[in-house]
Amino acid sequence: MQLIHLRRAGVSVIFDTSASTPAILYWGAAVAEVVSAEDFVRSQLETTPPCDFDEPQTIGIWRENARGFLSRPTLIGSREGANFSQKFSLRATNRLDDHSVDFVSVDEHASLEVSAKFHLSAAGILVISQSVTNLSIAPFNVESLTTFVPVPDYVTESLDYTGRWLSERHPQRREIQTGLWTREGREGRTGHDYTLVQFALSQGTGYQNGEAWGLSLAWSGNNRHIVERTAIGRTALGAGELLLPGEMILGSGETYNAPSVWAVYSDAGIDGASDRFHQQIRARANHPTNIRPRPVTLNVWEAVYFDHNLEKLTALADEAQAIGVERFVLDDGWFGARRNDNAGLGDWVVSKDVWPNGLHPLVDAVRSRGMEFGLWFEGEMVNPDSDLYRAHPEWILHAGDRVPPEFRMQQVLDLAHPGAFDHVFEQTNAILNEYEISYIKWDHNRVLTEAGHLGKPAVRKQVEAIYRLFDALKAAHPGLEIESCSSGGGRIDVEMIQHADRFWTSDNNDALERQSIQRHTSIVIPPEMLGTHVGPTKAHSTGRTLSVSFRAATAIWGHAGLEWDLTTATSEEKLALKGFIDFYKANRDLLHSGRTVRVEQTDEASWTHGVVAHDASRAIFSHVALKPSQFSRPNNIRLVGLEADSNYSVRVVEPAGAPGYTQIAGPKWFDGVVLSGSVLDRIGLRSPVLRPEQALLIEAHRI
Ligand code: GLA
Repeated sequence: MQLIHLRRAGVSVIFDTSASTPAILYWGAAVAEVVSAEDFVRSQLETTPPCDFDEPQTIGIWRENARGFLSRPTLIGSREGANFSQKFSLRATNRLDDHSVDFVSVDEHASLEVSAKFHLSAAGILVISQSVTNLSIAPFNVESLTTFVPVPDYVTESLDYTGRWLSERHPQRREIQTGLWTREGREGRTGHDYTLVQFALSQGTGYQNGEAWGLSLAWSGNNRHIVERTAIGRTALGAGELLLPGEMILGSGETYNAPSVWAVYSDAGIDGASDRFHQQIRARANHPTNIRPRPVTLNVWEAVYFDHNLEKLTALADEAQAIGVERFVLDDGWFGARRNDNAGLGDWVVSKDVWPNGLHPLVDAVRSRGMEFGLWFEGEMVNPDSDLYRAHPEWILHAGDRVPPEFRMQQVLDLAHPGAFDHVFEQTNAILNEYEISYIKWDHNRVLTEAGHLGKPAVRKQVEAIYRLFDALKAAHPGLEIESCSSGGGRIDVEMIQHADRFWTSDNNDALERQSIQRHTSIVIPPEMLGTHVGPTKAHSTGRTLSVSFRAATAIWGHAGLEWDLTTATSEEKLALKGFIDFYKANRDLLHSGRTVRVEQTDEASWTHGVVAHDASRAIFSHVALKPSQFSRPNNIRLVGLEADSNYSVRVVEPAGAPGYTQIAGPKWFDGVVLSGSVLDRIGLRSPVLRPEQALLIEAHRI
């Protein structure tokens, strides 16, 4: 019997290789070492019902039809119909270390080799990388290569996230029933609708309690996530790249390396899974906070839009400097004929019309005020009204002789075309060479349709090209940070984290909408990678008017900044912004390293969330009134995640001014009380009657 047990950070994965194919017998909470491999395998052998295969079948990770598996196989493909059915035999099991195993299997008849690498990380995330190699001279057409992982029979619900422009990451929870629940993204980019993680949950799993299993595909192109319960009663999660027809035809000796899949397990609720994602992402040497603290950023988009004017922008820089901004970002509109969004994309040359002396006067004004300078690009795109398109109309992704429908008056540049790639790299590089730019915001404002390169599907090529381009820009400009934006949160995933340093979480700067968008995006992505800005008093996205204290109390929960015409702010508002920035700077070490908690509660009118230091010595919480409570005295505010037996000094802080209340007298603990972690969790604190769309900030220090 050949059992392999990876066990780390409270997670176990047990493989059985005795049936000539690797099978995952278990993935979940850590279990004791198996005493007898033979007994263990015997305990898991399937029974044989009548009217079924005569011998129990071991399906294994490749889920071949040849082994009697009747749902979606791991690999789907053929050579024009031949070798449509494969049966892989295990050839090699390689143990690189105690936490990793690679399985190599071959189907000699089909002339294919497949490999599956499993690495259980220190964060308890199982990273799975699969590939298929064509051993024949005849081409093999890979239709799909999905990574499947079994979950226990007792999971009851699936949880994934959907969204759109201005409204990313709505959770949707549903009962798991027999069949496939599939989330597909066919936008050619990650997409606003990308789930980021697909969970299967045990009965009643919430943020703090219960078990959660989830997969997250590390890929920024077309994607698929699956929850599957088969009629035989087994349940699995699956994730993989969604390949277009004919997109992956392997020539002789060629390999398709499928995007890696991150598999997360938690027995401490959804927050436990979230914490594992954050730990995994933060463990990378190139994680931004492992390099430097996240600077307070002013992006001028909602302040000036396309109306670029040195005097106005210098006035903004003055205001920014006065309140402590550390980075100033000039958004869209500085290049080519880009005076509105009809023209100019593709011409990454500073416009002489608006910037007769180049960007130097502005860059100098910003840098002489002690701030870094950042600049916006959307290099994968081209407006038909541009010099680039006039010169090279053939450099767009397209199929047949059709031009794809325009989207925001733009087309997608075909970066698999060396000329197009070089054009974008060289023009961007020239700007970065000429100016002191520490940061670029890189946008991607349309979906891909008919994404063909020389008549063949090319979404994958396009995604590989953008990774290559980002990496090349970073290599040429050490220290350069890249923000991945795609009309807000349209390109956020666990592969883009390797190439970009920040995500623009949403184009929606309405703080009430942001509460939900940030809460759910941060399930996977740690807050320090999510751009969170204080927007204008009246939100441009919704027309809603929100207090500066609420906007600030929302924006501190990420890589904080501003996106507002500060020259129109009152002196009181500027004082509040200064308070917000000072608080953020004083606390960003905790905000960007601690464990994110979202308190499970029944009252839908409010949320409590927070960040707790990993040693539980400090915490900051926010209690948010989303709408008026149905109760005249709302539920207690519970602070979770603290050390049960330690005492904490707890008080309300108002860095950007007090929230609004509807009460004659408020709770009596605001100025400070000392309570144990268990009292704060189990009993909580009396809630004030907050007006809707207000947030309270609470600090806790262990004493
Ligand atoms: C997208 C981005 C915005 C802004 C505009 C500029 O919509 O998400 O933040 O940069 O483009 O055109």
